[in-house]
Amino acid sequence: MTSSKKTCLFLFQILLFSLLSLKITASPRTQGEALIRWKNTFSFQPSSLASWSLTNVNNLCNWTSIVCDSAGTVSEINLSGENITGTLTEFNFTEFATLTRFDLSSNNIDGDIPSAIGSLAKLAYLDLSSNFFEGIIPSGIAWLTELEYLNLFNNYFNGTIPHQLSNLQKVWYLDLGANLLESPDWSNFSAMPSLQHLSLYYNELHLEFPSFVLNCRNLTYLDLSLNKLSGQIPELVFTNLGKLQYLNLTENQFHGPLSTNISKLSNLVQLRLASNQLSRPIPEDLGFLSDLQMIELFNNSFSGKIPSSLGQLKKLQILDLRLNALNSTIPSELGLCTNLTYLALAINQLSGELPLSLSNLIKFFKTIPSKGRFH
Ligand SMILES: *[C@@H]1O[C@H](CO)[C@@H](O)[C@H](O)[C@H]1NC(C)=O
Ligand SMILES: *[C@@H]1O[C@H](CO)[C@@H](O)[C@H](O)[C@H]1NC(C)=O
Ligand SMILES: *[C@@H]1O[C@H](CO)[C@@H](O)[C@H](O)[C@H]1NC(C)=O
Ligand SMILES: *[C@@H]1O[C@H](CO)[C@@H](O)[C@H](O)[C@H]1NC(C)=O
Ligand SMILES: *[C@@H]1O[C@H](CO)[C@@H](O)[C@H](O)[C@H]1NC(C)=O
Ligand SMILES: *[C@@H]1O[C@H](CO)[C@@H](O)[C@H](O)[C@H]1NC(C)=O
Ligand SMILES: *[C@@H]1O[C@H](CO)[C@@H](O)[C@H](O)[C@H]1NC(C)=O
Ligand SMILES: *[C@@H]1O[C@H](CO)[C@@H](O)[C@H](O)[C@H]1NC(C)=O
Ligand SMILES: *[C@@H]1O[C@H](CO)[C@@H](O)[C@H](O)[C@H]1NC(C)=O
Ligand SMILES: *[C@@H]1O[C@H](CO)[C@@H](O)[C@H](O)[C@H]1NC(C)=O
Ligand SMILES: *[C@@H]1O[C@H](CO)[C@@H](O)[C@H](O)[C@H]1NC(C)=O
Ligand SMILES: *[C@@H]1O[C@H](CO)[C@@H](O)[C@H](O)[C@H]1NC(C)=O
Repeated sequence: MTSSKKTCLFLFQILLFSLLSLKITASPRTQGEALIRWKNTFSFQPSSLASWSLTNVNNLCNWTSIVCDSAGTVSEINLSGENITGTLTEFNFTEFATLTRFDLSSNNIDGDIPSAIGSLAKLAYLDLSSNFFEGIIPSGIAWLTELEYLNLFNNYFNGTIPHQLSNLQKVWYLDLGANLLESPDWSNFSAMPSLQHLSLYYNELHLEFPSFVLNCRNLTYLDLSLNKLSGQIPELVFTNLGKLQYLNLTENQFHGPLSTNISKLSNLVQLRLASNQLSRPIPEDLGFLSDLQMIELFNNSFSGKIPSSLGQLKKLQILDLRLNALNSTIPSELGLCTNLTYLALAINQLSGELPLSLSNLIKFFKTIPSKGRFH
């Protein structure tokens, strides 16, 4: 398809959705009937939904799992954990243009997300996590322009992540973790200025670091762990994402050094970079990140010294540097990390004595390099 044809199709879809939302005058009665029709397609009728019945259709706003707005039409449907076995195929989306919150998390719902979901023009909150949804994430999801929270965690979504998703400029929470998603052409994505929480954890992402993430400057939580991402960790992670509190890139294939610019992530609380191929010395500047509570760098190729600056980290609780090529002595300054409860240094090439200062670490429950060459 040529790009002008695509633009036409795009405009036509806008027109269609606008017409649909204008024409439909959903009433409590037709909404109630639509919910009952959908419920009747479930292969098991949860007793908790007994109030969803035609004899009770005048009490829609009193049905379990339903919240109405002041006009008496449905604004929220929350069926989280209601043991629903069914699909969304028979859900009449055009009836629910008034819906602002839709929570179907933790059920047994399977099948695709119908592209008609784009008619939920007021939807701000969508949680489909922990079901058996499959197929692609429809690009029509981009019609949900009021969306602020989108959780598709733990399903079987596959194919590439549609770039249209990044047009959802109000989204602050986006979790696509634990699916079968593949890397798209990231250059087609826009920055998401509101985004604070992003998880693409445990998918099939490969090639380089997703470039659009580098311009999501409001991020405080970023989890790309358990993928097959490779290349170096871009310098812009450190220079652009200064609000990050949680960074998890565990189990990818990132290589190269950990930049000294890590010191710019001054709000960092958890740094989890284990099981990559990172090399060269651990930057001394890590000791400037005074909010750090957890440092996991195990199973990489870090060499050289354990930075003595880590002794400045008064909040540090977990320091895991196992399975690297560190070849210094254990700095006595680590004894100043009085909040440390877990210290793991095994399988390195450390030498020297265990510093006496470590006896200050009364909160310890696990320590002592067990397998490292220790003299
Ligand atoms: C809603 O249900 C409660 C009992 O569960 C009842 O007391 C109340 O009158 C009902 N409200 C409406 C508007 O039907
Ligand atoms: C739905 O209900 C569950 C409790 O059953 C609650 O934890 C969740 O926050 C609710 N979802 C919404 C969107 O309010
Ligand atoms: C949950 O649904 C299944 C059918 O999908 C049914 O066999 C089971 O009894 C239900 N569990 C509860 C607690 O209702
Ligand atoms: C969905 O609702 C609309 C508006 O009430 C109605 O015209 C349409 O026939 C319904 N679709 C289905 C599949 O029931
Ligand atoms: C995605 O999954 C569906 C069924 O779940 C399958 O038919 C389709 O081929 C898969 N697509 C890709 C790109 O893997
Ligand atoms: C993504 O952008 C490239 C140019 O950067 C373009 O060739 C490609 O068609 C776009 N893909 C989609 C799905 O729009
Ligand atoms: C960034 O996040 C803060 C909360 O940490 C929020 O108040 C602010 O509105 C967000 N900025 C944008 C552009 O969304
Ligand atoms: C982050 O990394 C750890 C391993 O270091 C992994 O076990 C964990 O599941 C990851 N994600 C989250 C959300 O904790
Ligand atoms: C750190 O970031 C600055 C830009 O802010 C850049 O000029 C410098 O090369 C970076 N340092 C390293 C070691 O890459
Ligand atoms: C170390 O990382 C490799 C891949 O990066 C992984 O296969 C292996 O299981 C990891 N080992 C441990 C002990 O975490
Ligand atoms: C540690 O290893 C580096 C090379 O990786 C080497 O230059 C240095 O001399 C070694 N230091 C010690 C104390 O063995
Ligand atoms: C030490 O850790 C505990 C939790 O284990 C926490 O409540 C306390 O605030 C921490 N102290 C410092 C100085 O961070």
